[in-house]
Amino acid sequence: MQGQSKPKPRILTTLAELRVARRAMPGLVGVVPTMGFLHEGHASLMRRARTECATVVATNFVNPAQFGPREDFSRYPRDMDADTRLCEREGVDYVYAPSVDTVYPSGFATTVDVAGVSARWEGEYRPGHFHGVATVVAKLLIATGANRAYFGEKDFQQLQVVRRLAIDLDLPVEIVACPTVREADGLARSSRNVYLTDDDRRRALSISQALFAARDACKAGERRAAKLGESVRSLVTDAGLAIDYVAVVDRDTLEPIEVFDRAGRILIAARVGSTRLIDNIGLEC
Ligand code: PAF
Repeated sequence: MQGQSKPKPRILTTLAELRVARRAMPGLVGVVPTMGFLHEGHASLMRRARTECATVVATNFVNPAQFGPREDFSRYPRDMDADTRLCEREGVDYVYAPSVDTVYPSGFATTVDVAGVSARWEGEYRPGHFHGVATVVAKLLIATGANRAYFGEKDFQQLQVVRRLAIDLDLPVEIVACPTVREADGLARSSRNVYLTDDDRRRALSISQALFAARDACKAGERRAAKLGESVRSLVTDAGLAIDYVAVVDRDTLEPIEVFDRAGRILIAARVGSTRLIDNIGLEC
């Protein structure tokens, strides 16, 4: 309704506050785990949660455990005020924004290791990353007691890791996958896009363009994974990016495939300037 402002989300910072609030949350509870610096990609997850759940909780926690020693934890962008405004606009009821000490109190010693699906790709280039992700996601899902948890397909391997952990730990939560949100020109939305210079950004577009071209080639009949992978690799390299990997994989196991006789995915990680970007696309040939 015009002119009617939405209620502000309640900010919770301690586990005790979250537990008290959780007991009073009505109906299905949906959680959107984030590391803040929210953008349209996060907003789309919140909107989906809002349409499906009576209560929507967003978590906002930059998780040190998922950053490697030479990664961008300390410079990772943060803007709690803007994040709260976005949550308010999207009708989020609660924001759980714990401190590092709340999540990892002194003596903390338990980690979650999702074997198999964590091993390759990001797991290889960012050793320890998925330990950190799986550990914090398990803690957040348990702490919020959410019935549904919303994750973007942009981090496709993360999504599969989280699905596996929810099944293996018998967590009573449905993992809901939501499509990648892109800029009008195709660039996948990411908090890290803020690091891109104009020139980086122009060159970074080759990632989505190469993925779209591969999807089109697949639709037009190209079934050889090597050919599709090579075309992505050469378009992105020609734009001056340094590729960590281009992987043509089975959608569920993330193991490489040679021929598309099932639903697959192309995963890519590449560096432009000092920024590392990941993206992926589904292939239903
Ligand atoms: O995708 C992210 O933002 C993070 O990896 C997540 C799932 C919130 C865990 O810290």
